This record gives sequence, structure tokens and C-alpha cells, in this order.
Amino acid sequence: MTIATRERIIGDPVDRIDGASKVTGTARYPSDFTFPDLAHAVLMQSTIANGTIRGIDAADAEAAPGVLAVITHENAPALTEAPIAPLGPPPPFPLRDNRIVHHGQHVAVVVARTREQARAARHLVQIDYEEASPILRIDDPRAPVLLDRWGLDVDRGDVTGALASAEVVYDETFTTAAVTNNPMGLFATVARWEGDRLTVHDASQDPMWVRTTLATVFDLPEVDVRVLVPYLGGGFGAGLRTWPHVILTALAARVVGRPVKLVLTRPQMFSSVGHRPETVQGVRLGATRKGRLVAVDHASTSTMGALDDGGVNLVTPVTANAYSCPNVATHDRRARLHIPSPQWMRGPGPTEGNFALESALDELSYRTGIDPIELRLRNYTEVHPGSGLPWSSKALRECYRVGAERFGWARRTPGIGSMRDGSRLVGYGMAGVTFTPGQAPCQATVSIHRDGSAHVRSAATDLGTGTYTIATQVTAKLLGLDLDEVHVELGDSDLPPAPYSGGSGMATSLSGAIQDAVGKLVQAFLDLVADDDSSPLRGRSPHDVTTTNRGLHVIDAPSTGQTYVDMLAEHGLREMTAHGERNPPGSGASPPPSGSFAAWFAEVRVDVDLGLLRVARLVSAVDAGRILNQKLARSQIIGGAVMGIGMTMLEETVFDPETGRVTNATFGDYLIPAHADVPDIDVVFVGAPDPVRPLGIKGVGEIGVVGVSAAIANAAYHATGRRIRSLPITVEQLL
Ligand code: MOS
Repeated sequence: MTIATRERIIGDPVDRIDGASKVTGTARYPSDFTFPDLAHAVLMQSTIANGTIRGIDAADAEAAPGVLAVITHENAPALTEAPIAPLGPPPPFPLRDNRIVHHGQHVAVVVARTREQARAARHLVQIDYEEASPILRIDDPRAPVLLDRWGLDVDRGDVTGALASAEVVYDETFTTAAVTNNPMGLFATVARWEGDRLTVHDASQDPMWVRTTLATVFDLPEVDVRVLVPYLGGGFGAGLRTWPHVILTALAARVVGRPVKLVLTRPQMFSSVGHRPETVQGVRLGATRKGRLVAVDHASTSTMGALDDGGVNLVTPVTANAYSCPNVATHDRRARLHIPSPQWMRGPGPTEGNFALESALDELSYRTGIDPIELRLRNYTEVHPGSGLPWSSKALRECYRVGAERFGWARRTPGIGSMRDGSRLVGYGMAGVTFTPGQAPCQATVSIHRDGSAHVRSAATDLGTGTYTIATQVTAKLLGLDLDEVHVELGDSDLPPAPYSGGSGMATSLSGAIQDAVGKLVQAFLDLVADDDSSPLRGRSPHDVTTTNRGLHVIDAPSTGQTYVDMLAEHGLREMTAHGERNPPGSGASPPPSGSFAAWFAEVRVDVDLGLLRVARLVSAVDAGRILNQKLARSQIIGGAVMGIGMTMLEETVFDPETGRVTNATFGDYLIPAHADVPDIDVVFVGAPDPVRPLGIKGVGEIGVVGVSAAIANAAYHATGRRIRSLPITVEQLL
């Protein structure tokens, strides 16, 4: 079978097919689901960061109007521990005992007929705490530090020796603040039991794993648990774990014998669904005077929950494969604090690590007097340094060239403070990006019906990034149908198993499953007509045919063929369905290393009198392999850039140094970029389809955020001569 290329569908910038349903309110998000006898749960959270609960008095709350139950560790039924996910260990189990390990830990669930009644009764619950001194600072010597727990540290060559003899040596420390995933959609769970069957609507990026967790916890067969996430109001990694509140909602529904809804408040989002951890990173570089790297040493310490072993994102491994250098060490450590679990937030780890590495390279460019792009080209690697194998595809050179051209890098005068716009200093900065997008086993079914429509079904979730749309485009293209003839059903754990929507891997994984299903569907149609004397496709093999014009046609004779509808009708079938599967090659098979790449360029204006930094322009050139939808992919890069501006200039989750309380857990206090903070962002895709990934797709979700911070900080240095090694960049740092 060959894919027709006469009319493009893959790559076309078509609008989101679910756009209209979202703006007209027919798309139902988890919190939209309701039932006639629905009860409401609210969480009560710990007001200390470390210690134990001596006692709970819930009598007044239980007697309050409308209250159905107050569930605490003292009366919660025994449940089975949550299982370890493909992405790692689960968060600490809720209401297990009286131990408190962070401020905001869920200590009670109040369930009432209305949400208002539950909220009112919450104030009547008396909790007596025994408080211990919490560990809240990453440099607190009491904090347990985990070293190379994940076996991914790299030690290549002789870093110490190379640094000792290097012509140019660089050694600096970088810090990045904790920042919090803030999807628009507040996370919500609605749980409903019918006998021993449990149905859950949940804000999750991984409905299959929510199902597995709940089945384990409540000791149910997986088939008796159904998790639905047809729409999600954003995730950015917050939805990759089955959080305690999800288990508590299902538990509450079982305890009160009614469906229960729980919607986190915005402040609760800061303590309940993870955050990007704080990091302290040391970068040492050794180089020749001509800018050739001879040693790279990147060591990071980031924060971790006191009792949580999961949600880990490593900061430094990507450094080992970003440039050609014989002597490389990368080390990741985690310090356990009494804070809510840090975990994944878009581009987790590489985003923080890139800031340090690409800032350090910028500093090296000034010390050696070499243009920042030229410096990176002198250390360009055509092979993946870790394995020594060539990258499956790599257009980073083109990212630099095309990005620089669109940005106008040639207009940059190298001197610090040499560019001005009236009273304001102008700075140009750039950063290179190497990223490893994920892939995971995924299944989908594709059916063609007698009316000519095709149906795709998979448990995969659309985070809001466009999975419905690209699945429609891929299916239409592969089957030779129009977009409106394809219907995609997602976000239901009863559908064919799919992995988490994360790690920028869903477009690749799901497209691979669809491609496999379509191949099998074509074979099934050819089998159907194999002995059919009246069929022009009789005895044809998949290699002889192309999927065009709603059917199969002979490659050498495009007018010879049959539509799917005709074949179904002639054989009295209502539909034909094929089951597709994509299993990424395992490490044993030594697949060529595959990565995505980008270059970011930033122009900033700085008012040094006021310490005001504004981003005037951002340009990114991205090699993400085949782009399935130019509009949505661009939109993802822009979204990543906005998140990058946030963590670079505005966002910081502040834990009170005494109590561990998040002091700025509202949108009044936690600053996220507004429109006025976001400049014109120019995105261009370069490169070619990747030969080792389905349809050549590398994924675009996360690469948009990586590199933004360094490009902006490097531009700020070019403008002012202030080297900012600490995020977010504050007025004080610029004055
Ligand atoms: Mo992303 S951190 O894989 O949602």
C-alpha cells in the first residue's frame, strides 16, 4: 500500500475538529458530569508540614446540615496500596496513617449534599497536630539526598583531567525556582458506583492508569472500572499520576453510596497535582581557545517529596548527548523536603537543565569571542554521543540557520550594551535544544462502515493539544477519505489500550497504531475480494494498491479499483474493523537514537534604570520530524514559549520557610504571563520525517518550552552585561 500524496491532509493547518464543541459548551470536561443524587466532596488539608495527627474531632462536622460523611485516617476503610506505574511509583497513599509530610496533605474528606454544605462543615473539623520541624530548603543539611537512584548518571572519559588541562575553564552555579502546573481546567473527579462497578470521570492524561490504580486499590477486576476523559482542560504533566484526591473521591462515593464529585480549588492545585521542582545546578566546562569543548560536567540537585519516590524528572542526562565532547559527567541528585510532591511539568528536567547548559555556553562564547551560533556549530555532533550511533535524523544545523535568518541574527552587534532602542538597551540571545520525545505501546481500532464513515477508537487522551484532530487527519489520509468522514473516539479506558498522553509521545504512538490498523484493514478488504471474480482488485496484494477516493485503487491504473462501501455492500457486511498496535522498538534491538531539536532566538529590551525586562520577539526553528498539522503544532510551540516566559520572568511557587505553606497559591499572587507579557512568536518547522518513527513524527508538545529561558537570559546579558543564573529573573537582578 502506498500513501497518496496528491492532496495533502497530513500537515494541513486545519482547525481543531473539536473547536466548535468546546466553544459552544457541548464538550464535557470531567467537572461537567453530574447525576441526580450527586454528593459533593471537599478536601481538608494539613496546616503543618511535618508531624503527626494526635486526634481528630469530626462530631460537629458530621452533625452539620447536609453532611453525609467525614472520612479521615481514623475511619477510612482499609484499601490496597496503589501499584507502581510504567512512569514510576505512585504518590503517597491518602489517609494511610496519622503521619504528615507536607503542608496541604489531604487529612480529611467532607462529603455533603451540596458543595457549600461540605465547605461549611469542613471548618467544624478539629484536628490536633503534633508538629515537628520541617525540612524546607534544598540546602538544609538534614534533607536526605538521593544519589543516582535511577542509574542514568553519565561518566564518559576523564572530566577532571580534561578540566585541569583545558585552555578555558568555566565553573558556575545556576538555580531555578519551583513552578506549578496551572492548567485552566481545575482538576476534578466524579465517581459513581453501580454495585461493584466503578465509573470515574477524571482530569487525567492517563485514563488507563487511573483504571489500573482504582481496580487495584478497591480490589476490583479492571473490566469493572471505567475511566472517562473525553476532554481535559490542560495537563502539562499534572495529569500523569493518579493523585490521592482521585482515590478519595471513589472512596467517598463508596462510603456514602452516592455518586460524588470533587473539584480542586485553584489554591489546592498548588499542593495536590505536582509542580516543577526547584533545582541547583553546577556547570563546569573546559574548552580550547577556539571554543572546542573538552569537558562538560553538569550536576543538579532538585527537590522531591519526603515520602514520594515517583514523579522523577532528571535534569542533566540530555546534556550528555547535546554536543560533541569526549569527557562528560552528568549527575542528578534529589533532596527530600517536606513539600507537596514535585513531579512532571512540560519538558520536565531538560527544561531546567537546558537553561544552565545553554547559559554556560553563552558565557563561553563571550570568553572566547566566538559567536554563540558558531560556538555551537564547532561542537555539533552528528552522532548520538551516548551510543556512538548516528541520530535517526537531526536538522539542528538547519534550526540554527533558518532561525537565525528569520530572526535577523546578522544584525546583532556582539558588544555588550551595543544595541539600543532610544533609552532602552536591546539584547539578542539564542539557545540550542536537544530533546528526547517519548513513545509507548499504543493500540487503536479503525472501522469502515457501510455508510462510508470511518471510526477510530483508542483510550488515548487529548490534553487539549489536538489529538482528535491529528488522529482524524492521519486516518483520513491513510484511508483516502475526507476529514468529515472520519470520527475519532478517545479518552475512555474501555477503548483499545493507550499510554499516557505525555512525553510528547502521543501523536507518534497513536499514529503508529492507526497506521497499523489501516494496513490490516487494507489487507482485510483485499482478502474479502481475493476470490471475487467481479472485483477489479481480485488477487491484488497491498503493494499493488493505493488508498484513494474512498477505496482501494490499483497503483498503475488509478481508475481500476473499488470503494470500501461497494466492497462491504457486495459482501453483505455492515463494517470492517481492524485492530492496530504500535510497540516502539525495545532497547535490546538497539534502534537508532532519535531526538527532536530546536533553536530559540530572543530579542529583549531592558530599562536599566527600572530593572524592567521585556521580551520583544521570539523565534524558534524546530525539527520535530513530520508535522501533522502546521497550525496546531505551531500553537503547541507558542504555548511552550508562554510557559517558558513564565518560568523565566514571572513564576515562582513560594513555600513559607517556617510552615511549608504555598504562600502564593492564587492567580492574584502567582504570576503567569498575560497577553502583554507575550510578544510576537515566530515558529518555523525544519527537517524531514524521521525514518525510525511512525509516519516520521517526533512530537511537538514539550520542545516548545525547552530553550526559552536561556535565550531570554542570554539576550538580557547581551543587553546589560548582567549574567542571570537564577530563575525567575527579578527586577533586583537587573538593577
Ligand atoms: Mo508532559 S510533562 O509529558 O504532560
